[in-house]
Amino acid sequence: MTRWNNGRDEVEPVSPDITEETNALPARYFTDPAVHEMEKETVFGRYWVYAGHANCIPDAGDYFTRNIGDREIIVVRTHDGDVEAFYNVCAHRGSAMVEETPMTDPGNAGRIKCPYHLWTYDLDGSLASTPKSFEDARLNPDLEDEDVSEPDAEENALMSVHTDRIGPFVFVNFDDDPMPLAEQAGSMKTELESLPLEEYHLARRIVSEVECNWKVFGGNYSECDHCQANHQDWVRDLELLESELEVNDYHWILHYQHKEDVDDEMRIHEEHEAKFYYFWPNFTVNMYGTADGYGTYIIDPIDEGRFQLVADYYFKDPDLSDEEAEFVRTSRQLQEEDFELVERQQRGLESGAIAQAQLGPNEHTVHKLHRLAQEAYEA
Ligand code: FES
Ligand SMILES: [Fe+2]
Repeated sequence: MTRWNNGRDEVEPVSPDITEETNALPARYFTDPAVHEMEKETVFGRYWVYAGHANCIPDAGDYFTRNIGDREIIVVRTHDGDVEAFYNVCAHRGSAMVEETPMTDPGNAGRIKCPYHLWTYDLDGSLASTPKSFEDARLNPDLEDEDVSEPDAEENALMSVHTDRIGPFVFVNFDDDPMPLAEQAGSMKTELESLPLEEYHLARRIVSEVECNWKVFGGNYSECDHCQANHQDWVRDLELLESELEVNDYHWILHYQHKEDVDDEMRIHEEHEAKFYYFWPNFTVNMYGTADGYGTYIIDPIDEGRFQLVADYYFKDPDLSDEEAEFVRTSRQLQEEDFELVERQQRGLESGAIAQAQLGPNEHTVHKLHRLAQEAYEA
């Protein structure tokens, strides 16, 4: 039963059993600035979060930056071909070092140099050099040069961030002792690694700022009960009744069946099928049934009432054919239709009328999202 916020404000944690009446996350978790602050640690500070695609930084020294919560990182291709991530923070006096550099337009550096006093780091993060002034005591009358030791390269290395990959997808984790990515990703890792994801290249990136909480969009992505009413162009070619939702520990998959099969050349995935993976907390992988390519969404919170959607499209050739460009346009149309829905839902949640919503028995993917959020808050 829906709980209205009629001054009593009675809410309960999300019940593990979807048939119980308190099966949804209380409304304030979608609207409260304090919850947004808390999530920076409990959600984005603890789970594996998607950072970007390894193909975008093919050569040693290539890098891009990412902001996750308040943290700013540099993701870099090292000399031995690995991808590593560091805080974009200098070991000297804490200056940010490189300017915001999107994955679509990566930078390249032989070394990472802090612009403030020119401490310089190798691509593996170790301190490579400091200016002469750090070894002499000229301006300090209390010291002789001999008293001053050279800064240790290892101890003054950049602070590294745990990094792991699923194929070309690079993930980071800010926890001191995170669960393995393989554990968080489960069968999704095996499934994605069986596909030739490396052979596809970033062809389009569409970035949008949307006026709703990131979990509102996450919930909308996780179900298609709204599709018939709101995505008429898209459902025309689908057998919605044949669709299926699958829930795993930290990811869920929406399988959609296409009415007509399409040419083999036209898809990376299985016959008749499109598959959409939602990976807790804020990453999706979109396997289209009607295009030989795939997409990813990053659902980055900006504050409690806004998020940024980064929609990336990967194709064999980054110069899109007319058909592929048309495909991206259709996908964009779908996003815009969804933006209307989620902004309208946010408006309702922010009105203060509802204290705790309710989910239907088939909304088990949305329930999973709400449960994982609850678990994160309680951990
Ligand atoms: S803060 Fe980076 S060199 Fe001084
Ligand atoms: Fe939708």
